[in-house]
Amino acid sequence: MILQNIRYLVTQNENREVLEYVDLRIKDDRIVEIGGSLDYDDRKVDSSDRIVIPGLINAHTHASMTLLRGISDNKELERWLNEDIFPAEEKLDEQDAYIGALLGSVEMLKSGTTTFNDMYFHMDSVAEAVKDSGIRAMLSVGMIDIEEDTEEELRNAVNFLDRYRDENRIVPGIAPHSIYTCSNELLRYAKNYSKLHDVPFHIHVSETMQENSDALEEHGMTPVEYLKNHGMVDEDLIAAHSTWLTNRDRKIMEENNATVAHNPAANLKLGSGIADINSMMENGINVALGTDGAASNNSLNLFQEMKLTGLLHKRDDPSKLTEQDVLDMATINGAKALGMEDEIGSIEEGKKADLAMIDVDKISMNPRFGKDGLISNLVYSFNGNVSEVLVDGDLVVEEGKSVEIHENNLVEEVRDRAEKFQN
Ligand code: NI
Repeated sequence: MILQNIRYLVTQNENREVLEYVDLRIKDDRIVEIGGSLDYDDRKVDSSDRIVIPGLINAHTHASMTLLRGISDNKELERWLNEDIFPAEEKLDEQDAYIGALLGSVEMLKSGTTTFNDMYFHMDSVAEAVKDSGIRAMLSVGMIDIEEDTEEELRNAVNFLDRYRDENRIVPGIAPHSIYTCSNELLRYAKNYSKLHDVPFHIHVSETMQENSDALEEHGMTPVEYLKNHGMVDEDLIAAHSTWLTNRDRKIMEENNATVAHNPAANLKLGSGIADINSMMENGINVALGTDGAASNNSLNLFQEMKLTGLLHKRDDPSKLTEQDVLDMATINGAKALGMEDEIGSIEEGKKADLAMIDVDKISMNPRFGKDGLISNLVYSFNGNVSEVLVDGDLVVEEGKSVEIHENNLVEEVRDRAEKFQN
């Protein structure tokens, strides 16, 4: 297939080039050629009224929690979890997890996200939702052993990893929930598996001030120092939240090429705080962008998250964090976080054909003041309603609708399933 005469191609390549009136050739699941007037005997799709961007990457979420959207909006993390989320999760069965993840996957695809990074339980259900919707995901069993058996938690996670190793759109990872819900033994085993299989080590870190003061009291160290002390801070680390990193923590993250998955909406909503992203950028830390689950966001639309990110970190100095920085977080930085920067995160020859296409005539995309204006519109004014989405070169969103999933039926089942969570 050739996307012909693309009005704007936002490559997110090394030079952050935006190409105009260019052709893009896709063969099977890959971008094979980008150039002017490509002449092959392929199916041609006129794209002269389209802006094409790399599919966005959601670096931290819990897709099944989309079924719990709006269930609890006015509590800080600990009360939110203990009073509302854990009791709801007690009732959440495999089919609920599937339907929640399917709702989340469709929501993400329709707002231009083509890959998400997830940790939760009932992971096989999430994997089914990924396959059925056509999205791509890194999936990890979220491990906790406060009350649970350490060995069993580990066995479940490793079995999942083995089962999905050869799936096309699913990349398995390792995800101990946090240092306060996992024993040192579990963390060490998890880290070994992550190293052994060369997969990311995805964990919640310094989400609240309380987490930091508890860690200082219990271990005499911040969560990042604790992880560092046990050899767990390296390029495989995806530290979700990192809201309360100290100067020393940032230095450790930077020196060891670790990633922060920033989740500003969830941090604000649960009153957890605001991560110091400008300092992290100055440190040169890889910062990716996540939504967290829909029970704490309550949206999985990364365009909203980009706007919030841009605004939040300009509050003291509007010269900080440019629109290009923010778009990088939602694309190439996310790919680096997942160790998939050779496959996704930018539009380049040889990479996967994971693309989102936007109608140039959308009200919120006009006018456009050059390249910067185009990026600015993507970050600050576009609502995320993309026209088409391709994953592996397959059309999964067409005319703004999911190709694979009958949306009305899905919504009906979501309403039925959500009933039992009503208090
Ligand atoms: Ni989370």
